[in-house]
Amino acid sequence: MARQTSAAQHITMSGGGAYSLATKGAGDVITLAADLVLNAVEAMKLPPELPVFQMLDMGCADGGTSLGMIGKVIERVEKTCPDAVFNIIYTDQPRNDFNALVQMIHGLGPFESYLERFQNVRPLFSASSFYLPICPPNSVNLGFSATAMHWLRQKPCDLENHVHMVGATGDALVKFAEQGKRDWERILLNRSKELVSGGRLVLVNFGRDEEGRYLGNTFGVNMFDTFNEIWNEFLENGRISREEYVRMTLPQYYNTVEEFSAPLTDPASPVYQSGLRLVDVHTRIVPCPFAEEFKTHGNVKRFANAYIPTIRSWNQSIFLGALDESCPLEERQELIESYYGTYHQRVLDAPEGHGMDYVHAYLIVEKI
Ligand SMILES: C[S@@+](CC[C@H](N)C(=O)[O-])C[C@H]1O[C@@H](n2cnc3c(N)ncnc32)[C@H](O)[C@@H]1O
Repeated sequence: MARQTSAAQHITMSGGGAYSLATKGAGDVITLAADLVLNAVEAMKLPPELPVFQMLDMGCADGGTSLGMIGKVIERVEKTCPDAVFNIIYTDQPRNDFNALVQMIHGLGPFESYLERFQNVRPLFSASSFYLPICPPNSVNLGFSATAMHWLRQKPCDLENHVHMVGATGDALVKFAEQGKRDWERILLNRSKELVSGGRLVLVNFGRDEEGRYLGNTFGVNMFDTFNEIWNEFLENGRISREEYVRMTLPQYYNTVEEFSAPLTDPASPVYQSGLRLVDVHTRIVPCPFAEEFKTHGNVKRFANAYIPTIRSWNQSIFLGALDESCPLEERQELIESYYGTYHQRVLDAPEGHGMDYVHAYLIVEKI
């Protein structure tokens, strides 16, 4: 039997290497986090005779967005530990496009791979979810993850009036918060077993910041409300059923800084008791690159053509998976085209205020 729930199994980014090309913003987030990662490596005080440095990139998609950052880590560790062999373990859930990932890392994708610059690197690939053990105990020096851990292990319920927990209220919101708490602790407990003493995690996670801002909701048009409004229009026009609308609920939870920090700072938490400690947490907004470029070029069509693929890259599989399978696949795909076409038209008609600014919590965690 599959080890993941069916709701989680629809999570797939754009395949064939398209993910990294479409999600320039996610790449910017990792590039800007590189110094944090290098500082975490510095703080480990690695011994010069270290034989193996093992790093995890959890929820790596096609691996393109972290190539530069991982190259910098290898360069930095090599300076201190000249004989170290590097195990770079790429992990994602089983339905990820692993062919695209393997090709990307081995230099057959659209970007140059760090493998061309370093001799002692062994890239390894794992399809174990970050909700499961990935590595042997006590073997990981550095665990990294960006823009991935908001995907829940399973949906606690479907929402009646929105497609995302940011629009949930009452009992439904409580259920999502409880699921988010359980899942976050589960990720941390698994990582705690794998980290060596002194090892660190750098986790760059979508969240809600101190001012209530979150992905696509920092100014102007709220992206998640737009997703919801358009599906509501489809529902009202009889293009989807009520059951299909309700199934559109995305299996995601955006923690607040307090929620991220709690298990790492509360001495009663099993996570804290396992030896994980919060070194630092802060939030940061990385602007939507397409909305920023639009400010300069002012070409609406160019903006819409660049912006829609980025929002499509991570939610199309969920929305397609929510449509009734009794309808032929071709018709379901046409409906999805029409859905993103409607969003595209909205951007063309009134581009101001559209954009997907990235709101992340940056967590540095140490295993004592
Ligand atoms: C938005 S992409 C982020 C990719 C890359 N880390 C980046 O920042 O550009 C999110 C990734 O998380 C993966 N993911 C979702 N749930 C996961 C899980 N339970 N275990 C591992 N990966 C997961 C998805 O398959 C997807 O590849």
